[in-house]
This record gives sequence, structure tokens and C-alpha cells, in this order.
Amino acid sequence: MRGAGLSVRVDTTGNLIGRTGTPAKGAKTLLMGSHLDTVRDAGRFDGALGVLLPIAALEIVRARRVTLPFAVEVLGFSEEEGVRFSSGYIGSKGYVGRLGKADLRLRDCWGISVGEVLAKNNGGRFTPPGPAHSGKELVGYLEVHIEQGPVLEERGLAAGVVSAIAGQTRATIVFGGRAGHAGTTPMALRRDALAGAAEFILAAEALARGRPPLVATVGRILARPGAANVIARAAELTLDVRHPVDARRRTACARLRKAGRTIAKGRGLTFSMDVTQDNGAVPCSRELTGLLARSVCGREGRCAALASGAGHDAVIVSSLAPVAMLFVRCRGGISHHPDEYVAPRDIEAALGIVVDFLCRLASRYSE
Ligand code: GLV
Ligand code: MN
Ligand code: MN
Repeated sequence: MRGAGLSVRVDTTGNLIGRTGTPAKGAKTLLMGSHLDTVRDAGRFDGALGVLLPIAALEIVRARRVTLPFAVEVLGFSEEEGVRFSSGYIGSKGYVGRLGKADLRLRDCWGISVGEVLAKNNGGRFTPPGPAHSGKELVGYLEVHIEQGPVLEERGLAAGVVSAIAGQTRATIVFGGRAGHAGTTPMALRRDALAGAAEFILAAEALARGRPPLVATVGRILARPGAANVIARAAELTLDVRHPVDARRRTACARLRKAGRTIAKGRGLTFSMDVTQDNGAVPCSRELTGLLARSVCGREGRCAALASGAGHDAVIVSSLAPVAMLFVRCRGGISHHPDEYVAPRDIEAALGIVVDFLCRLASRYSE
């Protein structure tokens, strides 16, 4: 393999970049990776598996003395989950040159912005980088990820390919009311922001329940001032809406905005809904996925193609290169939870599949 050693480099937005060496003149680059951040009270595999497994696969390829006719770059993206800034993919956006002013303005719950964090980590100044590669230089991007759902387990398969990744909208919603004494303010005279938020959460749940596979989640709520004996003056909540069909997701978001306004009006509250993230559904590359499916069939005897309800860095990298994803079975489909677990034999299967995929891709590029 060309440039055998794997050096580790971290770029300005915190992405970890390891390369197999400088590509020969005119040679293309294959990107592989996933994210290194995770959620609160998380498991150990979401993201991390997709960064470590390609490194192990490259070691196997090297030990077998296979020559790859392309360079390989392993990426460990930062801030994919969007826990801190309520908007994900910050690392991968930086990598593909799509980190815009709106991203840099996003603030965490302490009021610190993405731009401030990046400036601090980059000697006081930060200018968003351009794309790390031009599309022409790239073979594609392969992301290995745990399935985070129960389908592979149900079908008795260690791994499967991803057909497409669902679109996703995230928003910050604020209901504004009036603070007051919990003991002395009669119920009829209250403008309770938290009660308005509660009504909105139930409306979002009812809307999504009636329209599968639409999903809508309020995962965080902050009440202000946040005391047991004070009526909430403000309630800030996150909203996450997903659907494989972009038009359905947009309609759902419009309905939820309308529902929020109606709830606020009925309670004498103010309402705002700021979209912090909006990504359309992304189809995976037919060519790369077809090749990957052959590697899966070689190992498992058959291959399932799954749609991903979860978001992945592949969504963002798809603006630069064709993408493919390998899903690996996880126990009970549990993820974003400390019980997240992938059996060693399934990791071994995935490793074999990725090595086989690299060899198939190498022969295709050598043809
Ligand atoms: C990432 O895990 C996401 O789908 O939100
Ligand atoms: Mn995750
Ligand atoms: Mn993930």
C-alpha cells in the first residue's frame, strides 16, 4: 500500500485526519470515517466505531501487501451530534467548506458561540476553511456506523448497507410568558410559558404519531427562571423533526409552527421558532453501495438495504463526494444510551467487509 504509515492530524475545526500518505500525482483519495463526539449518557460505539474500524481495515490491507491505487484519508469529525449548539455536523461542514456565518453565530446554553470557540482554539482568529478537497480528487466517502435500530438483529444479519439518510430539521423554540408567585397568582391570571411548552410537546407528539414514518422529538427544555415556586417566564425547547421525504418534513414543520402560534395566542404568550439545522434527505451512491453490498453478501450470504433515520456526517460529505454507509448490528437496536453494544464478532464481520470493499474498489480503479 502506498505511504503505509498512518499519521494523525487535527484540523482547525477539530477533525482528526489520518492519511495513508501523500497521494501519487493524479491519484484520487477515498475518505472513510465518522464522528468522535457523542451525546450525554451515551454508548461507546456511535461514531467511534466508524473512525477506528477503517484504521484497523487499513492495517489489514497493509499487512496483506495490497496496493491501493488511491490514497485513503480517515476522518474523525467533531460536533456531529449537535448537543452543545443544537445544530450538528459542525466538523464535517468545516471539512467540506460549508461552515457559514449562521453556524458561527450558534450559541450554547452559556451564550458562547461556535465562532468564539473556534477563534479561541485557533490562536484568537478563525476564518472558516474552504473545502479540504475538490470533488474531482475524491473516490468517495465510506462511513461505518452502528445501525441504532433493530432491523439487522431481527433479520439475523451482522451488517447491511444504507440506501438513503432521512432529512432532518432542528429548531429552537421559545415560549415567553410572565413570571409570578406560585402561591399567590390565581390560575386564570397566569401566563405560564412552561405550560404552553408542555402543550406544544404533546401537539408535536400527536402530529408525528399520526403520520409515520414522521418523527418529532423535543429532547431538551429549559424553564426560566427555573424555580419550584415561580411561574416560568420563559421556556426554551429543542425540536427535531425527520422524514425520508423532504416535502413531508417541511409540511410537518410548518404545521408545528402554526400549532405553536395558536397555543401561544390562547395563553397570552409569545412564540418563536428558529431553525438551527435543515438537511434534506441524502441518497447513497448506487455505485459504491452496490460494491459494498457485494462485500456484505460475500460475508453474510445476503444483504439488506436500510434507510437511515439517524443523521450522519455522510449527509454533509455528500456535497463533495459520492457516499456509502455500512450499518453494523447493535444489540436490541439500542443507541444514544449507555447500554449500546456491538458484539465483537459483528465488528470482525464489518472489518472483513470493509477490507473486501477496499480490495474490490482497488480492482475497479486499476481496471
Ligand atoms: C445523530 O445521532 C442524529 O441522528 O441525531
Ligand atoms: Mn448519535
Ligand atoms: Mn452517529
